[in-house]
Amino acid sequence: MPNALVAGNWKMHGTAASAAQLASQLARQWADADAAEVIVFPPAVHIATVASVLVESSVAIGAQNLSQFESGAFTGEISAAMLVDLGCKYVLVGHSERRTVFGESSHCVAEKFVAAQAAGLIPILCVGETLQQRQQGQTMTVVADQIAAVVEQAGLDRVCDGVIAYEPVWAIGTGETASPQQAQQVHQGIRAQLGDAGIDTSLLYGGSVNGDNARQLFGQPDINGGLVGGASLEADSFLNIAQQLIEQQ
Ligand code: PGA
Repeated sequence: MPNALVAGNWKMHGTAASAAQLASQLARQWADADAAEVIVFPPAVHIATVASVLVESSVAIGAQNLSQFESGAFTGEISAAMLVDLGCKYVLVGHSERRTVFGESSHCVAEKFVAAQAAGLIPILCVGETLQQRQQGQTMTVVADQIAAVVEQAGLDRVCDGVIAYEPVWAIGTGETASPQQAQQVHQGIRAQLGDAGIDTSLLYGGSVNGDNARQLFGQPDINGGLVGGASLEADSFLNIAQQLIEQQ
């Protein structure tokens, strides 16, 4: 995979028909897979539909969540192997909505990261601080601790094989973005934490990325792409962001 990635997190939006339509627009309009990997993360119930639309395209597919367990009596859960079976290549782990709304601990996030890699998925580990933590000067410690929890269970090399998305919680869905300098500072800190093993690890920025702010964010030396929520629900705005990433490479 190229080191430059643009990931579209569709969250809990859309019908099977609207998901298929968005996927087919992306499939028609995106052919530049060598320059940047474009990935969509539909709701789990739409993955099969979207995968069948994207099968011959340059757009990759991922899931928004997975179970830390392999199989068994876990009502309502979806295993990593099931996602692979549906055609997923990636999976988000530790999105702030999973951590805050659904109470996922860093330990649980780390288990999911390990389960994803064991099944052959590429996990995108999401980390980020709340507004209060930023105001108290805790940003770097919070992010470092969230990564360290995964390193402890998966090992540093395996974490570096994955993707890390820095998403300040206060910037998600709020229209407020970290400035390119704020984002770069955290990305640089993450790069330093990973050390030599993480030189080629893709580090994405997420949090209200759109067509107006993408270029400057992607112009930062340690930002390799974006995790996009709202602006990924429309093909033109999402691919415009991907195009801006290519132009900054
Ligand atoms: P947003 O979401 O772009 O709508 O802020 C980003 C995310 O939650 O991954």
